[in-house]
Amino acid sequence: MLDPVSGPPVGPHVLDDPALGRIVKSSDEIAARIAELGAQITEDYRGRLPLLVCVLKGAFVFIADLAREIHLPIEVDFMAVASYGASTKSSGVVRIVKDLDIDLAGRHVLLVEDIVDSGLTLSYLRRNLLARDPASMEVCALFVRQGNQKTQEELRYVGFEIPPAFVLGYGLDVGERFRNLPYVCEYRGEG
Ligand code: PRP
Repeated sequence: MLDPVSGPPVGPHVLDDPALGRIVKSSDEIAARIAELGAQITEDYRGRLPLLVCVLKGAFVFIADLAREIHLPIEVDFMAVASYGASTKSSGVVRIVKDLDIDLAGRHVLLVEDIVDSGLTLSYLRRNLLARDPASMEVCALFVRQGNQKTQEELRYVGFEIPPAFVLGYGLDVGERFRNLPYVCEYRGEG
Protein backbone atom coordinates (compact mmCIF):
# COMPACT_ATOMS: atom_id res chain seq x y z
CA MET A 1 0.00 0.00 0.00
CA LEU A 2 1.19 3.49 -0.80
CA ASP A 3 1.34 6.11 1.91
CA PRO A 4 -1.97 7.95 2.23
CA VAL A 5 -2.05 11.13 0.20
CA SER A 6 -2.61 14.36 2.11
CA GLY A 7 -4.13 17.58 0.87
CA PRO A 8 -7.55 19.06 0.14
CA PRO A 9 -10.53 16.82 -0.64
CA VAL A 10 -10.65 15.46 -4.19
CA GLY A 11 -14.10 15.29 -5.71
CA PRO A 12 -16.80 15.13 -6.66
CA HIS A 13 -17.73 12.27 -4.36
CA VAL A 14 -21.10 10.75 -3.49
CA LEU A 15 -20.32 11.00 0.19
CA ASP A 16 -18.36 13.50 2.16
CA ASP A 17 -15.25 11.86 3.57
CA PRO A 18 -11.67 13.20 3.52
CA ALA A 19 -10.40 9.64 3.03
CA LEU A 20 -11.70 9.66 -0.55
CA GLY A 21 -9.10 10.62 -3.13
CA ARG A 22 -8.77 10.82 -6.89
CA ILE A 23 -11.32 8.82 -8.87
CA VAL A 24 -9.46 6.01 -10.64
CA LYS A 25 -12.39 4.54 -12.60
CA SER A 26 -15.75 6.29 -12.87
CA SER A 27 -19.04 4.43 -12.72
CA ASP A 28 -19.52 5.07 -16.46
CA GLU A 29 -16.09 3.65 -17.29
CA ILE A 30 -16.76 0.60 -15.12
CA ALA A 31 -20.19 0.03 -16.65
CA ALA A 32 -18.82 0.30 -20.19
CA ARG A 33 -16.01 -2.16 -19.50
CA ILE A 34 -18.35 -4.63 -17.80
CA ALA A 35 -20.64 -4.50 -20.83
CA GLU A 36 -17.63 -5.48 -22.96
CA LEU A 37 -16.67 -8.29 -20.61
CA GLY A 38 -20.25 -9.55 -20.57
CA ALA A 39 -20.41 -9.54 -24.36
CA GLN A 40 -17.14 -11.47 -24.57
CA ILE A 41 -18.28 -14.02 -21.98
CA THR A 42 -21.63 -14.38 -23.78
CA GLU A 43 -19.76 -15.16 -26.98
CA ASP A 44 -17.29 -17.56 -25.36
CA TYR A 45 -19.84 -19.56 -23.36
CA ARG A 46 -22.60 -19.85 -25.95
CA GLY A 47 -23.99 -23.40 -25.79
CA ARG A 48 -22.67 -23.95 -22.26
CA LEU A 49 -24.14 -23.16 -18.85
CA PRO A 50 -21.51 -21.18 -16.95
CA LEU A 51 -21.44 -21.23 -13.18
CA LEU A 52 -20.27 -17.88 -11.88
CA VAL A 53 -18.46 -18.19 -8.57
CA CYS A 54 -18.41 -14.97 -6.57
CA VAL A 55 -15.59 -14.56 -4.06
CA LEU A 56 -17.05 -12.56 -1.19
CA LYS A 57 -17.08 -10.06 -0.02
CA GLY A 58 -15.58 -7.60 -2.47
CA ALA A 59 -16.88 -9.13 -5.70
CA PHE A 60 -20.57 -8.84 -4.83
CA VAL A 61 -20.97 -5.51 -6.61
CA PHE A 62 -19.06 -6.58 -9.70
CA ILE A 63 -20.86 -9.90 -10.12
CA ALA A 64 -24.26 -8.25 -9.81
CA ASP A 65 -23.46 -6.01 -12.78
CA LEU A 66 -21.49 -8.61 -14.76
CA ALA A 67 -24.22 -11.26 -14.48
CA ARG A 68 -26.71 -8.87 -16.06
CA GLU A 69 -24.39 -8.25 -19.03
CA ILE A 70 -24.13 -11.97 -19.81
CA HIS A 71 -26.96 -12.80 -22.17
CA LEU A 72 -27.06 -16.53 -21.59
CA PRO A 73 -28.53 -18.80 -18.94
CA ILE A 74 -26.10 -18.79 -16.03
CA GLU A 75 -25.95 -20.00 -12.45
CA VAL A 76 -24.32 -18.11 -9.58
CA ASP A 77 -22.85 -19.35 -6.34
CA PHE A 78 -20.92 -17.66 -3.55
CA MET A 79 -17.96 -18.45 -1.40
CA ALA A 80 -16.31 -16.40 1.30
CA VAL A 81 -12.65 -16.59 2.12
CA ALA A 82 -10.51 -14.88 4.71
CA SER A 83 -6.78 -14.76 5.02
CA TYR A 84 -5.32 -16.16 8.23
CA GLY A 85 -4.45 -12.63 9.39
CA ALA A 86 -2.59 -9.75 7.85
CA SER A 87 0.82 -11.09 8.73
CA THR A 88 0.25 -14.33 6.82
CA LYS A 89 -1.66 -12.88 3.89
CA SER A 90 1.42 -13.00 1.70
CA SER A 91 1.62 -16.76 2.26
CA GLY A 92 -1.62 -17.07 0.30
CA VAL A 93 -3.07 -19.44 2.88
CA VAL A 94 -6.74 -18.62 3.08
CA ARG A 95 -9.57 -20.04 5.11
CA ILE A 96 -12.89 -20.88 3.47
CA VAL A 97 -15.47 -19.13 5.63
CA LYS A 98 -18.41 -20.08 3.45
CA ASP A 99 -18.13 -22.79 0.85
CA LEU A 100 -20.09 -23.19 -2.37
CA ASP A 101 -23.47 -24.92 -2.33
CA ILE A 102 -23.17 -26.27 -5.88
CA ASP A 103 -21.04 -29.29 -6.84
CA LEU A 104 -18.45 -28.18 -9.41
CA ALA A 105 -17.92 -31.60 -11.04
CA GLY A 106 -18.40 -31.25 -14.77
CA ARG A 107 -19.32 -27.57 -14.53
CA HIS A 108 -17.93 -24.64 -16.52
CA VAL A 109 -16.74 -22.43 -13.70
CA LEU A 110 -16.06 -18.74 -14.06
CA LEU A 111 -14.40 -17.42 -10.92
CA VAL A 112 -15.27 -13.75 -10.40
CA GLU A 113 -12.91 -11.55 -8.37
CA ASP A 114 -12.99 -7.83 -7.72
CA ILE A 115 -9.23 -7.37 -7.53
CA VAL A 116 -6.06 -9.38 -7.96
CA ASP A 117 -3.16 -7.97 -6.01
CA SER A 118 -0.44 -10.46 -5.06
CA GLY A 119 -2.42 -13.17 -6.84
CA LEU A 120 -1.97 -15.54 -3.92
CA THR A 121 -5.65 -15.71 -2.98
CA LEU A 122 -6.49 -16.58 -6.54
CA SER A 123 -3.72 -19.15 -6.70
CA TYR A 124 -5.14 -20.88 -3.65
CA LEU A 125 -8.71 -20.70 -4.93
CA ARG A 126 -7.80 -22.04 -8.33
CA ARG A 127 -6.10 -25.08 -6.82
CA ASN A 128 -8.97 -25.63 -4.42
CA LEU A 129 -11.67 -25.41 -7.11
CA LEU A 130 -9.77 -27.42 -9.72
CA ALA A 131 -9.59 -30.28 -7.21
CA ARG A 132 -13.40 -30.45 -7.46
CA ASP A 133 -13.13 -31.61 -11.09
CA PRO A 134 -14.88 -28.86 -13.08
CA ALA A 135 -15.14 -29.26 -16.88
CA SER A 136 -13.39 -25.90 -17.22
CA MET A 137 -12.30 -23.02 -15.05
CA GLU A 138 -11.54 -19.45 -16.01
CA VAL A 139 -11.08 -16.26 -14.04
CA CYS A 140 -12.69 -12.86 -14.51
CA ALA A 141 -11.12 -10.07 -12.44
CA LEU A 142 -12.35 -6.49 -12.63
CA PHE A 143 -9.06 -5.00 -11.44
CA VAL A 144 -5.46 -6.15 -11.49
CA ARG A 145 -3.13 -4.03 -9.41
CA GLN A 146 0.06 -3.60 -11.39
CA GLY A 147 3.45 -4.55 -10.08
CA ASN A 148 2.50 -6.63 -7.05
CA GLN A 149 1.93 -10.12 -8.42
CA LYS A 150 3.83 -12.84 -6.62
CA THR A 151 2.46 -15.55 -8.86
CA GLN A 152 1.65 -15.60 -12.55
CA GLU A 153 -2.04 -16.39 -12.61
CA GLU A 154 -3.79 -16.89 -15.92
CA LEU A 155 -6.63 -14.37 -16.12
CA ARG A 156 -9.01 -15.01 -19.00
CA TYR A 157 -10.94 -11.77 -18.48
CA VAL A 158 -9.58 -8.56 -16.96
CA GLY A 159 -11.48 -5.30 -16.63
CA PHE A 160 -8.67 -2.87 -15.87
CA GLU A 161 -5.05 -2.84 -14.86
CA ILE A 162 -4.65 -0.14 -12.24
CA PRO A 163 -1.59 1.53 -10.70
CA PRO A 164 -0.34 0.22 -7.35
CA ALA A 165 -2.20 2.76 -5.18
CA PHE A 166 -4.59 1.63 -2.45
CA VAL A 167 -8.10 1.95 -3.86
CA LEU A 168 -11.63 1.61 -2.54
CA GLY A 169 -15.21 1.58 -3.76
CA TYR A 170 -17.26 -0.63 -6.07
CA GLY A 171 -16.96 -3.51 -3.59
CA LEU A 172 -13.46 -2.67 -2.34
CA ASP A 173 -13.32 -1.68 1.30
CA VAL A 174 -11.23 -0.04 3.96
CA GLY A 175 -12.14 -1.66 7.26
CA GLU A 176 -15.45 -2.79 5.69
CA ARG A 177 -16.40 0.76 4.65
CA PHE A 178 -16.83 2.31 1.21
CA ARG A 179 -17.88 -0.86 -0.64
CA ASN A 180 -21.00 1.04 -1.75
CA LEU A 181 -19.24 3.76 -3.72
CA PRO A 182 -20.35 3.42 -7.35
CA TYR A 183 -16.80 4.12 -8.60
CA VAL A 184 -13.24 3.35 -7.54
CA CYS A 185 -11.03 6.00 -6.00
CA GLU A 186 -7.73 6.29 -4.20
CA TYR A 187 -7.59 6.10 -0.42
CA ARG A 188 -6.10 9.16 1.28
CA GLY A 189 -5.96 7.77 4.78
CA GLU A 190 -7.81 8.96 7.83
CA GLY A 191 -6.13 12.30 7.83
C1 PRP B 1 -9.34 -9.03 -1.76
C2 PRP B 1 -9.84 -9.50 -3.12
C3 PRP B 1 -9.13 -10.79 -3.32
C4 PRP B 1 -7.83 -10.59 -2.57
C5 PRP B 1 -6.76 -10.27 -3.55
O1 PRP B 1 -10.12 -9.60 -0.76
O2 PRP B 1 -11.24 -9.66 -3.14
O3 PRP B 1 -9.86 -11.89 -2.81
O4 PRP B 1 -8.00 -9.48 -1.68
O5 PRP B 1 -5.52 -10.11 -2.89
P1 PRP B 1 -4.25 -10.99 -3.29
O6 PRP B 1 -4.19 -11.06 -4.78
O7 PRP B 1 -3.09 -10.22 -2.70
O8 PRP B 1 -4.39 -12.34 -2.66
P2 PRP B 1 -10.00 -9.13 0.76
O9 PRP B 1 -9.00 -10.01 1.47
O10 PRP B 1 -9.75 -7.66 0.81
O11 PRP B 1 -11.42 -9.50 1.34
P3 PRP B 1 -12.87 -8.89 0.97
O12 PRP B 1 -13.15 -9.22 -0.48
O13 PRP B 1 -13.79 -9.60 1.90
O14 PRP B 1 -12.80 -7.40 1.21
